[in-house]
Amino acid sequence: MPAPTKFTTYIDEHADGFIQRLKEAVAIPSVSGDPKHRPDVFKMGSWLQSQLEQLGAQTKSVDLGKHVMDGHELQLPPAIFGRIGDDPKKKTILIYGHYDVQPANKSDGWDTEPFTLVVDNATGRLIGRGSTDDKGPILGWLNVLEAHKALGLELPVNLRFCFEGMEESGSEGLDELIASEAAKGKDGWFGGVDAVCISDNYWLNTRTPCLTYGLRGLVYLKLTVSGPSRDLHSGAFGRAVHEPMTDLVILMSKLVAPDGKILIPGVDEMVPAASEEEKKIYDNLDYSIEDIEEAVGAPIALSSDKSTVLMGRMRYPSLSLHGIEGAFYGAGAKTVIPASVSGKFSIRLVPPQTPETVEPLVQAHILSEFKKLNTKNKLKVENLHGGKPWIADYKHWNYQAGIKATEAVYKRTPDLTREGGSIPVTLTFAESLGVNVLLLPMGRGDDGAHSTNEKLDRSNFIEGSKLLGTYLYEVSSIAA
Ligand code: BES
Ligand code: MN
Ligand code: MN
Repeated sequence: MPAPTKFTTYIDEHADGFIQRLKEAVAIPSVSGDPKHRPDVFKMGSWLQSQLEQLGAQTKSVDLGKHVMDGHELQLPPAIFGRIGDDPKKKTILIYGHYDVQPANKSDGWDTEPFTLVVDNATGRLIGRGSTDDKGPILGWLNVLEAHKALGLELPVNLRFCFEGMEESGSEGLDELIASEAAKGKDGWFGGVDAVCISDNYWLNTRTPCLTYGLRGLVYLKLTVSGPSRDLHSGAFGRAVHEPMTDLVILMSKLVAPDGKILIPGVDEMVPAASEEEKKIYDNLDYSIEDIEEAVGAPIALSSDKSTVLMGRMRYPSLSLHGIEGAFYGAGAKTVIPASVSGKFSIRLVPPQTPETVEPLVQAHILSEFKKLNTKNKLKVENLHGGKPWIADYKHWNYQAGIKATEAVYKRTPDLTREGGSIPVTLTFAESLGVNVLLLPMGRGDDGAHSTNEKLDRSNFIEGSKLLGTYLYEVSSIAA
């Protein structure tokens, strides 16, 4: 059953108001990874809770306790729960999203203020931090609720909401909360949930809608090499002492090859190669080398073969080097020997890898490479956070509903994709509730999540809101 016409008409007619609400949300710099912004993450949580209340949901703000970040003890932002409807004749869908965002400063290279949503009428872009990741999609659900409330339309399913404020920083506290709610069975907040829908990813390209049935997992590590008790003058001490930066750069060079091969023994080997048949799945996706090169803004794809590039992102692990804390990076030519430097890198995991099976291989490799340096400096290895990969059954009715909704709104059949990114809580929902999870994206592949000038196209915001609503109708009729 497609959504009633008055629903989609309402969404079209109220587009400007929806963009205004997105502007309000983007204006709250809810950066979970920066202790300075922690009060803003709380503010965003309350804003979202009050929106849900105004739109007719019953809500609860759940305290997740404290944690330590950069040496500060901080209160974790709450999970915001919501619920509408208790009709035993209807299916119950749980919706997840995250209200925190990545850091952003104009000086990173943004053309506009990151926390001021800019509507570019020439291109149709809504530019601002969180526009696509993940405030736009969360607000898509609010738009659906608003339309139903204003039109006096009954929702076709019962809804449960779970919104968190720590996704970009490892979802601390959430797994335990979900497990404890799940353990309460039908009396828990997620009691009676039939399936989960998450809108927190992107189309593969800029044209073709997709549904996503896989995500990579993650293990994120920090290597600290320290030696002298203070920074040193390189004229006074160069070639006289072991330098931490030299050791660290060599260690980091032993992790990944320029062609993407992971140099840690055993890690790539855990994943079976794709069969010819599986390669075809990737050949058939609407994607080209030009798409990736356009999305990254340079002709730097690792291969000219489309399925090799797609499999690199979707079904093989990858290792990326992220940064070196404590290194000299300012302007000018400071002749310093930094006393202590920390290299950060992460590995994206695919089944059957897990953080628990991969981390020991990484630790062993780093220690053995460190020994070879014959240095007197000290090494510390820390695991910052991680998450398991996830893969779903795309033959499930939840996916059939997503496909039908996409066909109704976009007049085309969506591609079925796996994603290279991670949303660790996805697997937690799947395992602890024992239900199917669907990833139903709103934005496009060139939105620039985590990057400068992050955007969501106006048409994706509006059609995407219709898509989310229509999906609920399709769920109700498939299940009937
Ligand atoms: N929305 C992304 C996940 C994502 C990224 C999906 C790319 C599809 C493509 C999410 O907000 C995110 O950034 N996740 C982090 C998780 C990490 C901090 C555990 C990620 O993937 O880096
Ligand atoms: Mn996200
Ligand atoms: Mn993100």
